[in-house]
Amino acid sequence: MRMKVISLAVALVATSSMSWAASVRDEPIQPIAPAQAADPAKVELGKKLFFDPRLSKSGFISCNSCHNLSMGGTDNLKTSIGDKWQQGPINAPTVLNSSLAVAQFWDGRAANLQEQAGGPIANPGEMGFTHGLAVDVLQSIPGYVAEFKTVYGSARIDIDKITDAIAAFEETLVTPNSPFDKWLVGDDKALTKDELAGYTLFKESGCVACHNGPAVGGTSFQKMGIVEPYKSASTAEGRAGVTGKDEDRFNFKVPTLRNVELTYPYFHDGEAATLEQAVEIMGRLQLGRKYSDQEVGQIVAFLKTLTGDQPRFMMPLLPASVNETPPPKPFD
Ligand code: HEC
Ligand code: HEC
Repeated sequence: MRMKVISLAVALVATSSMSWAASVRDEPIQPIAPAQAADPAKVELGKKLFFDPRLSKSGFISCNSCHNLSMGGTDNLKTSIGDKWQQGPINAPTVLNSSLAVAQFWDGRAANLQEQAGGPIANPGEMGFTHGLAVDVLQSIPGYVAEFKTVYGSARIDIDKITDAIAAFEETLVTPNSPFDKWLVGDDKALTKDELAGYTLFKESGCVACHNGPAVGGTSFQKMGIVEPYKSASTAEGRAGVTGKDEDRFNFKVPTLRNVELTYPYFHDGEAATLEQAVEIMGRLQLGRKYSDQEVGQIVAFLKTLTGDQPRFMMPLLPASVNETPPPKPFD
């Protein structure tokens, strides 16, 4: 009988993201639905743009430089390296499952993925370009012009089309089928005893108050350092920089814990090198709780069950520049 329930749940996951809700365990974390690309041609175009370093002034930095899809969608650096080897101010969050978050960036200053995608291109500390120059480069490349025409019905490229296509690609970067998701849809054998004990601790000690929903985070802004203050050399203020309200100081978007095994180092300043450290700090600062080494080990074991299927695809081949394409300026 139980086998039947499981195979039914799996079949439903494959067909519809709505109907499987009923067969899922009633938990504060929900499974991730597989990506459904509404417009495959747009997604392909967005993928090319995500990998194209010609959207940067140097011709060297692409979205994938800092959100490396071979490494969990991050650069695994404390803070990123931008144009002319500039040291970035903040840790790069993963782009995996970012479509599931209430807003983008640590302080939520972009409402959605399309709004976000314009930021790094024109950020002097990241890709160091301007939207106008990025459009000029793409507009000079016949291969891109043809592709924009197919997707948008017009050969005129603009920044809104560029960011719309990148966002469509990013929406496909979800990571379903993690061991924890298999457990959520009814497979009791998907978790070991320690992993399950870790989840019970995670839930009962209150981590789920902030890390919940399908992304195990990304649903709210919360203060870093509730019970004990967080000491950081970083100047990041969090949400207060957007709202101007003093009570929002050090409020950050709760990061997703999906694939957290791959997205080290941790926190907005990248100061926690290991998951063990991050869990210990969260317990103490957010909940006033001192976990034993065994408890930390169990919570970490649970967190590693949140690693899902990573996006896999052929490396996109980018259309070549032509004689008229404005050249990159890496050292100006
Ligand atoms: C030089 C490194 C760098 C490059 C290049 C870069 N990013 Fe980022 N990205 C970051 C950093 C750092 C943040 C966090 C900034 C903040 O929150 O203030 C970020 C944040 C994001 C987020 C928000 C994720 C979240 O959970 O809030 C998304 C989505 C994203 N970048 C996508 C892109 C796209 C698309 C491109 C290419 C157009 C790109 N990035 C280029 C470093 C980079
Ligand atoms: C009151 C809300 C809240 C609670 C409770 C909470 N967290 Fe967090 N968590 C956050 C916020 C906010 C951040 C980001 C903090 C920062 O970067 O400065 C975070 C970051 C993390 C990170 C680092 C993720 C990354 O990619 O950088 C991990 C791991 C984590 N939390 C695990 C836990 C665990 C385990 C518990 C329970 C012991 C817990 N959290 C309890 C709000 C919370």
